[in-house]
Amino acid sequence: MGPIPLCVLVLMTALAVAAAVDNAADDEYTWPQWKVPLVRKRRTVLLSSPDFSAPPQQELSGTCGIECQRRLPAPSLDDVEEFLSYETVYENGTRTFTSVSVQGLNEVVSWSRNTTSPSRQKREVYGTDTRFTISDKQYSTKYPFSTSVKISTGCSGVLVSPKHVLTAAHCIHDGKDYLDGAQKLRVGILKEKSRRGKGGKGRGGRGKGRRRKGEKPQEEAPEQEENNGKGERKGKGKGRKSRSRRSTEVEKPSFRWTRVKKTQVPKGWFKGVSEGLAADYDYAVLELKKAPKVKHMDLGVIPSIKKLPAGRIHFSGFDDDRPGNLVYRFCSVSEESNDLLYQYCDAKPGSSGSGVYIRLKEPGKKKWKRKIIGIFSGHQWVDVTGDGMQQDYNVAVRITPLKYAQICNWVHGDSSECQVA
Ligand SMILES: *[C@@H]1O[C@H](CO)[C@@H](O)[C@H](O)[C@H]1NC(C)=O
Ligand SMILES: *[C@@H]1O[C@H](CO)[C@@H](O)[C@H](O)[C@H]1NC(C)=O
Repeated sequence: MGPIPLCVLVLMTALAVAAAVDNAADDEYTWPQWKVPLVRKRRTVLLSSPDFSAPPQQELSGTCGIECQRRLPAPSLDDVEEFLSYETVYENGTRTFTSVSVQGLNEVVSWSRNTTSPSRQKREVYGTDTRFTISDKQYSTKYPFSTSVKISTGCSGVLVSPKHVLTAAHCIHDGKDYLDGAQKLRVGILKEKSRRGKGGKGRGGRGKGRRRKGEKPQEEAPEQEENNGKGERKGKGKGRKSRSRRSTEVEKPSFRWTRVKKTQVPKGWFKGVSEGLAADYDYAVLELKKAPKVKHMDLGVIPSIKKLPAGRIHFSGFDDDRPGNLVYRFCSVSEESNDLLYQYCDAKPGSSGSGVYIRLKEPGKKKWKRKIIGIFSGHQWVDVTGDGMQQDYNVAVRITPLKYAQICNWVHGDSSECQVA
């Protein structure tokens, strides 16, 4: 047989390798699909209005970490139903308590499994500050950054539906009572309109000239805009403004504030209910009076982040050392348990409540899609080893199948829409 040119051989080998890698990696780069337990409303009763007397929350401490949690008995179905029962507070001060029933808990058991045990090696300390301030509105008001919102109590949050915001429970409730500022709760969305006059509304220009590569305050991987989202907004139309003198365009950020119509907090967060596990329930959902017409980010569930090839988490929020500015960061997860992610992402108070997201592919599609897989809780002293020794971490609450079911239920008001994550 005739000689095969070397270059063809090389090419063929390269293709074969590429194909193999592609297959092997496909699963790891794809959003898994989970059957989610059914969380149903059982009964709702009226409670007295809250006092709204709690002062703003400081950092949390005494979080029961990985080893510590292993020593606790596994929560029974009754426990889980109690932790996932919840309070609702309406803007007129009316408060209700709703108990829930949970079906299909087995799905969760097969989901949760041996998590990586904490490594004993010395951990990196928070090094140089690796946060990026997204001060240019061209980016801060575009997806995904535009899903980040400010909560009037000083926290951050993320839009998870056209009119629902996910945030941390401690941003509105201290475990005993609602915060003082939770009575007239508002959510701030970064204003798109600049006060530099004319440009303001940009007319879906074709963004011809100057879109130099490195300009974008990139997320670590190159962007591939996913316009599809969940429908309502196609993103598109508003297009990119073709601006050229970027550096002079940094304006003072300002917010469009929207009132919150109702607030929902899981009972697991309340003092004395889930001893040692309260940090696992540091999340809440706010329903806005008016939909802000900003694309939201969907929720997702993944079993282990450290096992993902690009196991990095991202979040942006309003850290209070950079007033009013949206701050973005990404980092690797150091430790994870079924309910919590421990990391050393640089963050300051104010970023609590931010939506922690990753990007994976939609099953059967080429496009990348970001989904919220956790809620940033903040800096905490964690009992990692279970012997009372506290170690400091930044902690995020992981969205487990159960929590997915609950949050989805709050958002849709109907558990039948929440069966697959
Ligand atoms: C407060 O608002 C809730 C929900 O809109 C409503 O059901 C309730 O009757 C209101 N209560 C009062 C005292 O107005
Ligand atoms: C991890 O799994 C193995 C086998 O599945 C089990 O024997 C072991 O006890 C588990 N470890 C922990 C810490 O749960």
